[in-house]
Amino acid sequence: MKKETRVNHPPRVDLPAENRPVVAPIYQTVKFEFDNLEQTIEYLNGGRQGFFYTRTSNPTNRQLELTLAQLQGREECLTTSSGIGAMAQTLLALTKQGDHVLCFVETYGPTRYLLRSVLARFGVAHTLLSIEDIEGVERSLAARATRLVIFESPTNPVTKIADIEALTRLAKAHGALTILDNTFAGLHQHGEYDIDVFVHSLTKFASGAGDVMGGAVIARSELIRSLRADFGTLGGVLDPHAAFLIQRGLKTYFVRYRAQCGTAQRIAELLAGHSAVERVHYPGLPGHPQYALARTQMREAGSIVSFDLGGGTQAAGRFVDALELFALTPSLGSTESLVIAPQMMSVRDLSPEQRRLAGISPGTVRLAIGLEDGEDLATDVTRALDAAGA
Ligand SMILES: Cc1ncc(COP(=O)(O)O)c(C=O)c1O
Repeated sequence: MKKETRVNHPPRVDLPAENRPVVAPIYQTVKFEFDNLEQTIEYLNGGRQGFFYTRTSNPTNRQLELTLAQLQGREECLTTSSGIGAMAQTLLALTKQGDHVLCFVETYGPTRYLLRSVLARFGVAHTLLSIEDIEGVERSLAARATRLVIFESPTNPVTKIADIEALTRLAKAHGALTILDNTFAGLHQHGEYDIDVFVHSLTKFASGAGDVMGGAVIARSELIRSLRADFGTLGGVLDPHAAFLIQRGLKTYFVRYRAQCGTAQRIAELLAGHSAVERVHYPGLPGHPQYALARTQMREAGSIVSFDLGGGTQAAGRFVDALELFALTPSLGSTESLVIAPQMMSVRDLSPEQRRLAGISPGTVRLAIGLEDGEDLATDVTRALDAAGA
């Protein structure tokens, strides 16, 4: 073999059968092959296990999918290149012209965009209610055949808690599938509820370090089977290296999630006691309007703490600029703490009434708590609150 050929056919190094790596390798390959045509055709006809082309499956991604399915308490999972990609592909795969989708004003902005600007082009209609309006949900489902009910809990940014039992019961009674974007609550919560499809941004708590993007759709086997062909062709596949990084991040998921929630609780309590703060939104505080519901549904209350500053947009500006340890940028669930100001919370697509329901005031600030020392964060927040109130 000439060297020009050798560099394209490097020597194989197979592990002996009784010898294995403790951490699974990254299968950074697009293609897999079988020994001969007969085996290849057998695989393509579904009669042989294996892998062929990474856009449809890859062992590194598969390991991550199996882990995520177990964490969320479902049978199957598909991974995607981002959280919103997971939502987009799910919506495209589960709807058709003439369908109606029920969603909520408190839902993540890009998900609302998918409904308003993408699905609408294909003749899929939607209704936006408030997540607190369970009677409205019942009325809407009774009035109109509905394919999907899409929601989040806690919601962004003011951490409203969806009544998951009521929503799933009503959706089921009217033949609608439920999709819960469970990114804020994490991969280990809400699995005991009768949710049909969980969507996650793996960019957040799953990977944890804020350096990789990914998404996941987790559901029972039959539903995932019905999505698989569309997902393979829509093509928003997770790169195996990203899958490896996310799998690595998951090893510390519980330690990180719980530490972040512990510090979030402390910061929420601090905020509740400061004169510049009008209202704190954190489901772990007894003063939260749905505290009892949050206690029933969640083991941990999350790492997002939002609050309304009495001084409105100006005070919020002084607050975010005075912080030293919080990066002024969106996202959540990574090691470093983040903050967003009210001007960064896009609700331009909502009517004034819908904006009111979304609960964002001119002084609403959202903190995403990271893994820094809690006392350092508390000192930083107190100093910035004093600057905001000055
Ligand atoms: C609730 C929620 N869903 C979905 C996404 C989208 O995730 P990604 O940025 O991985 O596309 C985000 C991102 O912030 C989010 O907060």
